[in-house]
Amino acid sequence: MKVSPEKFESFMPGKQENPVHYIIKGDNASILRKMHFRWEKSFDFVYIDPPYNTGKTQNRKYNDRFWDYYSREKHEKWLVFMRERFDALMPLLSDRAVVFVSIDDRELPHLILLLRELFGEWNTEVMIWHKIPGEGHAGQGKMKRAKRFRIDHEYIVVAYKNKDILRFNKIRSPNPVRKHYGNPDNDPRGPWISAEICKSAKKSNPGGKNYYTIITPQGRKITRQWHVSRAEFERLDQEGRIWWGNGRIIPRLKKFLNEPRLITPSSVIGNISQTEGVQMLKSIDARADFKHPKPVRLIKYLLEMAAPDDAWILDFFAGTGSTGQAVLEMNVTEGKQFRSVLISNDEDGTLHQLLLPRLMQVKEKHKSEDKIVFIDENSEL
Ligand SMILES: C[S@@+](CC[C@H](N)C(=O)[O-])C[C@H]1O[C@@H](n2cnc3c(N)ncnc32)[C@H](O)[C@@H]1O
Repeated sequence: MKVSPEKFESFMPGKQENPVHYIIKGDNASILRKMHFRWEKSFDFVYIDPPYNTGKTQNRKYNDRFWDYYSREKHEKWLVFMRERFDALMPLLSDRAVVFVSIDDRELPHLILLLRELFGEWNTEVMIWHKIPGEGHAGQGKMKRAKRFRIDHEYIVVAYKNKDILRFNKIRSPNPVRKHYGNPDNDPRGPWISAEICKSAKKSNPGGKNYYTIITPQGRKITRQWHVSRAEFERLDQEGRIWWGNGRIIPRLKKFLNEPRLITPSSVIGNISQTEGVQMLKSIDARADFKHPKPVRLIKYLLEMAAPDDAWILDFFAGTGSTGQAVLEMNVTEGKQFRSVLISNDEDGTLHQLLLPRLMQVKEKHKSEDKIVFIDENSEL
């Protein structure tokens, strides 16, 4: 069955029965400005992956060159371009908005200064994406030829409307390493790993929280400061989640491979390979030759961490639609109610050849009931 985006008739950014995703064609600066009337203070989460100003235009699907090679104006031109777009973005942000911007070393300093000026120094932070994780991933071989060191990372600059009122969600631990898990007691719940459940005797404070004595199945008494209350410890023991070992060890907590573990997100994002983005896009369109689409998992990581369940999401450098795929999939798999706006100038046919077919395919695959609405640049917003 061929699915096509719904025709744009009229819309309101308010609540709809099924989440709606608007794909808007046009130059993002003028589209963002056009959106001011209906979408003021609407967006809680923005992710953008702007041109990095690498100077490369050949073999690329889009222009990433804002300068004549030896021109002193090269950063200035990029900055003027970005400032115009951020000025247009500011009125669209909700009071709890967070903006993530992918970038590499070339424009990092200029981007940080721009965002500090617009959001305030206190409201700007930097994350690192370790994009070539571990040995054995595609891309390693080529990079061994680097003369000094391989560049295995890039940045995500984070800007908050008001950092003080934000609390990020804990996230599920990405891809545990299976070989670290075992099952010495043949637990039917499958492989597990043990984790510390108390402080050492030396570090335990008798006057501190959760300082109490437990008695092991062999009758040995252990007095420590525990990471859980006594009642919680007893509940975990009843559920067979305390590992007593041979009776001579300090008990530990069993954490199962198959159960999601919530962890505090880190400023360093690992375990997500850059090549995943290309593989994902190729799996959707084998002929796609867009360089470096972002991995869908990278954007899901940011959404899981920072987007409220019914957030309005905006990506105004939407490219091949990685953000769109992340949003559509999380609405199905995580029960989110994300609504989104994706803006693309359709450079080199990216919007019609990659983004729209990709979202239609994802929608069909997941039997998503979300609406996808295409808005042409000439429509009133
Ligand atoms: C780095 S790519 C984004 C890739 C995207 N994150 C993905 O995973 O596919 C930047 C995209 O922004 C587009 N672009 C550049 N200038 C633009 C503008 N003024 N308005 C809208 N899109 C623009 C480019 O054509 C390109 O597709």
